[in-house]
Amino acid sequence: MNAAVEVSPYVNRRERLFASIGDGVAVIPTAPELARNRDTDYLYRHDSYFYYLTGFREPQSVLVLLGGAERKSILFCRSKDETREIWDGFRYGPDAAREIFGFDEAHPIEKFDELLPDYLKNRGTLYAPLALGTTNATAFEATLNKSINAVRGMTRAGFSAPDSLVNVYKLIDEMRLIKDAHEIAIMRRSGEIASLAHTRAMRTARPGQYEYHVEAEIAHEFIRHGARTPAYNHIIASGPNACVLHYNDSTRQMCDGDLLLIDAGCEYEGYASDITRTFPVNGKFTGPQKDVYEAVLKAQYACMDVLKAGNAFHKYHDVATESLAQSMIDLGLLKGSLAQVLEEQTYMQFYMHRAGHWIGMDVHDAGAYRINGESQVLKPGMVVTNEPGLYIRPAANVPEHFWNVGVRIEDDVLITADGNENLTITTPKTVAEVEATCSR
Ligand code: GLY
Ligand code: MN
Ligand code: MN
Repeated sequence: MNAAVEVSPYVNRRERLFASIGDGVAVIPTAPELARNRDTDYLYRHDSYFYYLTGFREPQSVLVLLGGAERKSILFCRSKDETREIWDGFRYGPDAAREIFGFDEAHPIEKFDELLPDYLKNRGTLYAPLALGTTNATAFEATLNKSINAVRGMTRAGFSAPDSLVNVYKLIDEMRLIKDAHEIAIMRRSGEIASLAHTRAMRTARPGQYEYHVEAEIAHEFIRHGARTPAYNHIIASGPNACVLHYNDSTRQMCDGDLLLIDAGCEYEGYASDITRTFPVNGKFTGPQKDVYEAVLKAQYACMDVLKAGNAFHKYHDVATESLAQSMIDLGLLKGSLAQVLEEQTYMQFYMHRAGHWIGMDVHDAGAYRINGESQVLKPGMVVTNEPGLYIRPAANVPEHFWNVGVRIEDDVLITADGNENLTITTPKTVAEVEATCSR
């Protein structure tokens, strides 16, 4: 049960969506519960779009917005049920949910199929998820189909069914791209907690430990600050594993002389953080490790300089690529001029991902990266990650002292009116800061 529910951000977002749907009807379900095995479920996680508009975290819930003159927000949710509450815990029930979360009406979820055709009558446009192929498809779409057909059967009684279907997620994506003050405050805290976890990892990691020992320290720090789950599967990658981009086994024993790349972020109050730091397990960078680290750091700082309102989203990826490519030449990893390396994309041997992504409720958050083929322009309130890296696998064309050096440095950055704010700034980052933290 939420201790005190701050409803105004959710009410405001519903108002903004009402303004977009005219006299249409919007129907937005939350996420289904997912079985893990036999009678055990995965820890429940609400749907981000539904939560964005409601602040309501219970499963088996649907939001309906009736636009136009009627302008009504209606929640369907689980009924109060003493027996189920003894087993599974508190649930609001429609009456309390309506009052506390500020809906105009609320009904038991069992009534949804029965009432939905009424909401669809004489509405030109239905705004619903086009979730085919995602976890939200399936049962919900079958319900919508059935209701639309039910209204089609009433034409002789003077009712028409919607004749146009619009993906409601697209409207909400645009809203989610610009974070409001309520979201920014939560993301700042999510960033702080993840930052504490990375600092703890630096302080505690030692040669001889297994990667999962470090994962445990991170989980400990997240949970003790109220961030119950990671925002994504952690990457705790030591030695050669640092060059496996999506490594998440966490089973290797760490050696003296290894680098440890940790990509870990928490979900706090529904919002993700996403930090990567790379540090020496024994607390001291070797010369080649430091050279690669400094090259990535230089690229990351160069990106920070162009993460500003008015710049194209894609600009910082180009800046990262150019900076890293020049460093690869300077370090003797690549031959040729900068122009050649960029043209022939030989840098892809060591830098093969993008420099970042939107982040918010989802770690790879909603929102278009291009509009009509053109890069989205950065605006205040957008939040991106800044995460260049270099991953040097053993190869005939690579000096041996660089083999298995993998470095990524990642922060979460809010675009502001006059520049940006690094939401994960408290995580040690310079060589001096990292080595000092490791030695504590
Ligand atoms: N941790 C996922 C990412 O960095 O995109
Ligand atoms: Mn990451
Ligand atoms: Mn990321």
